[in-house]
Amino acid sequence: MKIITSIKDQADYCNSLVKKGESISLIPTMGNLHKGHESLLFNPSYMKNKKIVSLFVNPLQFNSSDDYKSYPKSINSDIKILERNNVDCLFMPSEDEILRSISESESFALPGYMNILCGKYREGHFLGVFKIVKKLFEIIRPSVAYFGKKDYQQLIMINHIVKEYFKNKIKIVACDTIREDNGLAMSSRNNRIVKSKRNIASLVYKELVTLKEIIKTNKDYNFKELQQSFIKTLSIEGIKIEYLELLSSNDFSVIQKNDTDNLMLFVAFYISGVRLIDNIEV
Ligand code: PAJ
Repeated sequence: MKIITSIKDQADYCNSLVKKGESISLIPTMGNLHKGHESLLFNPSYMKNKKIVSLFVNPLQFNSSDDYKSYPKSINSDIKILERNNVDCLFMPSEDEILRSISESESFALPGYMNILCGKYREGHFLGVFKIVKKLFEIIRPSVAYFGKKDYQQLIMINHIVKEYFKNKIKIVACDTIREDNGLAMSSRNNRIVKSKRNIASLVYKELVTLKEIIKTNKDYNFKELQQSFIKTLSIEGIKIEYLELLSSNDFSVIQKNDTDNLMLFVAFYISGVRLIDNIEV
């Protein structure tokens, strides 16, 4: 596997691939890879493409510098995982070079629906993701890029970037959420929670599944009541719900009483001081 650390070398490498008639798949990550990331690497679509993984812990998308500084790093095991999955190239730019390359003067307009859910509680987060993903797309010019549905709002924003800035020329592959055996969505942040608490955290997913069944089978459900009972049940377990919403999965619009298509439950919560998110199609 080729490891590249400068923007120019990465752009040159990608240009040489395109000249040879190769297509590029990009999998952007912040490292500390787990089986969720790995599922993006061995996704069966576009197998013939050259696979490029980027690893960059993006300071622009963290709300607190403590959270940024304590973001887990495991570069040696990451490289082993990438090699095991036949990744052709790892792009690992320096923070300095990337930040210098992002123009201060360029204005980045986020769609209105990026101000709700995580956009409401993590100020500046999505703008930070927006800037880095747009920059990675400009350097690497992939024809395909893979993103996880676990970060569903991020995924929808990436579709917006591709439409607005890349004329829809990058195909975005949305990959299913990979979970621990107990149902907890895999996340680099799970490592910060002791095992017994991770089992408790998995109750959130179990409650989401229960909620989904109630919504699907009971036309007269009252979401406000369901929301309150969800928050109460989990608070007894020491879980603090930041938000629980039922919205359209297309554009996060509020759903109407009789809507049954494209519904999604979104949740963010704290356990042991760690913030996690999850979602489930209804
Ligand atoms: P990171 O959290 O490292 O995630 C990289 C990719 O892996 C994202 O597309 C994310 O949705 C996906 N992913 C994470 N956990 C997953 C799981 N349990 N199942 C399936 N996919 C999962 O998301 C980011 O990095 C950053 O915001 C980034 C896009 C790299 C921009 O900095």
